[in-house]
Amino acid sequence: MAFEEITKPSVSDMKETPNLIDYQSTREDFDWYRDGFSGLDWLPDGGLNNAYEAVDRHVNNGKGKQKALIWIGKNGDEETYTYSQFKEESDKFGQVMKNLGMQRADRVFIFMDRIPELYFAAMGILKAGGVIAPLFSAFGPDPVRDRMEDAGASFLVTTPELKSKIDTMLPDIKTLQKVIVIDKSDTANIKTDEKTLLYKDLMKNVDATNFILEPTTQYDFSIMHYTSGSTGKPKGVLHRHQAVVQQWLTGKWALDLKEGDIYFCTADPGWVTGTSYGMMAPWTNCVTQIIYEGGFSAASWYEIIQKYGVTVWYTAPTAIRLLMRAGEAVVQRYDLSSLRFIGSVGEPLNPEAVVWGNKNYKMPIHDNWWQTETGAIMCANYATTNIRPGSMGKPFPGVTMGILDDQYNELGAGESGILAVRPGWPSQMFAYWQQDEMYNSRFKKGWYITGDQASIDEDGYFWFQGRADDVINTAGHLVGPFEVESALIEHKAVAEAGVIGKPDPIAMEVVKAFVTLNPDYEATDQLRRELIGFARDKLSAGVAPREIDFIDVMPKTRSGKIMRRLLKARELGLPEGDTSTLEDDG
Ligand code: PRX
Repeated sequence: MAFEEITKPSVSDMKETPNLIDYQSTREDFDWYRDGFSGLDWLPDGGLNNAYEAVDRHVNNGKGKQKALIWIGKNGDEETYTYSQFKEESDKFGQVMKNLGMQRADRVFIFMDRIPELYFAAMGILKAGGVIAPLFSAFGPDPVRDRMEDAGASFLVTTPELKSKIDTMLPDIKTLQKVIVIDKSDTANIKTDEKTLLYKDLMKNVDATNFILEPTTQYDFSIMHYTSGSTGKPKGVLHRHQAVVQQWLTGKWALDLKEGDIYFCTADPGWVTGTSYGMMAPWTNCVTQIIYEGGFSAASWYEIIQKYGVTVWYTAPTAIRLLMRAGEAVVQRYDLSSLRFIGSVGEPLNPEAVVWGNKNYKMPIHDNWWQTETGAIMCANYATTNIRPGSMGKPFPGVTMGILDDQYNELGAGESGILAVRPGWPSQMFAYWQQDEMYNSRFKKGWYITGDQASIDEDGYFWFQGRADDVINTAGHLVGPFEVESALIEHKAVAEAGVIGKPDPIAMEVVKAFVTLNPDYEATDQLRRELIGFARDKLSAGVAPREIDFIDVMPKTRSGKIMRRLLKARELGLPEGDTSTLEDDG
């Protein structure tokens, strides 16, 4: 091992006793029903509702005065809400949705930045039995349309600015019944009509005193997130209310969340980390969550940790690499001594970063692994387990993971192969929305196939090695090359496009496109810039290619599939491997 193992102090020497004291014995004696399902309150009739577990139950248990969220706006505004206020606001929005005719399992898209109303709306929809489908606010019209159309969206909750970005495509969504606009600053001049309604009017006029929480069961649908694959458009990953069991327990054991913690999750709810760990895990554990509307900034983040006394911080490798680049001197300007636990997810965390964190934050950064499809943390470094920098730790108690060969047989320690999980964990996706074949293809010989490659060492630590497909991971966000290629070929100059992930020291990968041009178009710098701008407008800056190369011939298989693997090998100056299926250039 290139980096020395970081040993944890004994529990008696720790600042506070962690929730999970002995990983090994807990794992050996674990039971999902005793340790997971029975830790929640459940509805009186035996049903389960994730928003009830996150918000209402604390009020019912006499904790209504505790702070649920502290919101810090981009411009420094601050708002604080207790669990009681959170319940009241979300009940009201739940009633609004019921009054508007929302039915159980209707898909309600949320397209907005992180403001408190996003969370009131999300919890209200869930309590009223709807399915929330949050979208990243940087998305352009194409990704929003593709997802809303695919899901048959009934409602959209958005803000004036974001609505104007997608206005022209809204009529394309035939299933859309109402658009609810949240004008927080009260400055936009929104024209309301039968279909377009203002949040503040709806909330002012609603009477939620008799709001009845929809009696959902653990099997009811709750959240849908779109995730990218290497072929086709993104797929809607559908989760059920029972995912909350694992979100709560992993919050408690893998992130060590305790009642009264001040928790800071830097993820946006447009991605699964921002719902599983930016809503469900923290609030079911009755912590105070800091919600920061702004994006990355080393100084602002440290300032937040210092000012609010953040105890648990969950972030991502790209951010950590940016913090490393900002330097040690910046860290030293702040008092970060309130921190007790730091977690990271979404991409491989460099061993250097773990060691850097250990020096500068006086504690290692705990890498953990999971996916949109798994709904919650599956493999983690825990508060009491020693850390092998570069490893994503060990499977969560109750989760069985394995490394398989290409025939889906289990391999032993030290061998690389397919990372797989035994199905049946509580937060397992229920479906890819209307894509049964794709869903079924993820299960082989009694395993769920993750799409990642990894190895396991002789002590049971898992080591991530890469993805088994062409999906690009840029700053922790998965980008499907097909979606980018489809956008590019809509430009009149482009004949064909092939898209790959190019290694990048900060973002891990950046999106790079290779295009062939239609006759009469010339490969100029101006056209390159135009294409990048075109893709940005359609997709978003994070998803659009950062680089474009013009090529004369697109490498394709005889069946016409673009050989991204070959484009990548050429880009990296690597051997081109097996090109026997390559189509003849002529
Ligand atoms: O390739 C793995 C990478 O991110 C993928 C999951 O992305 P997504 O579905 O967007 O879920 C994000 C929420 C976690 C994985 O298949 N990934 C995630 N965590 C890690 C990781 N790669 C390496 N190390 C990790 N800790």
